[in-house]
Amino acid sequence: MVQKNITVTVLRTDPEKSDAGTKQRYTVPFTEGMSAMDVLDYIYQHLDSSVAYYDHAGCGLGICARCTGRINGKAGLFCQTPVDGGGELVLEPTGKDRVQRDLVMKKK
Ligand code: FES
Repeated sequence: MVQKNITVTVLRTDPEKSDAGTKQRYTVPFTEGMSAMDVLDYIYQHLDSSVAYYDHAGCGLGICARCTGRINGKAGLFCQTPVDGGGELVLEPTGKDRVQRDLVMKKK
């Protein structure tokens, strides 16, 4: 069986350095039932531990909404959004004005 990969682009932003942000690409091996949060976990654990997102601070159950972001341009919860193998995945914060860093937003 051929391993499917996902090409992932994460919008990385550190407002203390620049508001513009940069797009960083990763290749993540796909596993059946994977969510966008699982993709971020893989990136953090195996490819780049500097990516900032809510993981342990969130519920992982679709309740707290701390993992809200844009997934391929649509707002959603990273922990509840399944991803497809062999495709492209773009993960961004919901808005640039409240970005604390990468995919972590400041509280209102
Ligand atoms: S981590 Fe709580 S809704 Fe996703």
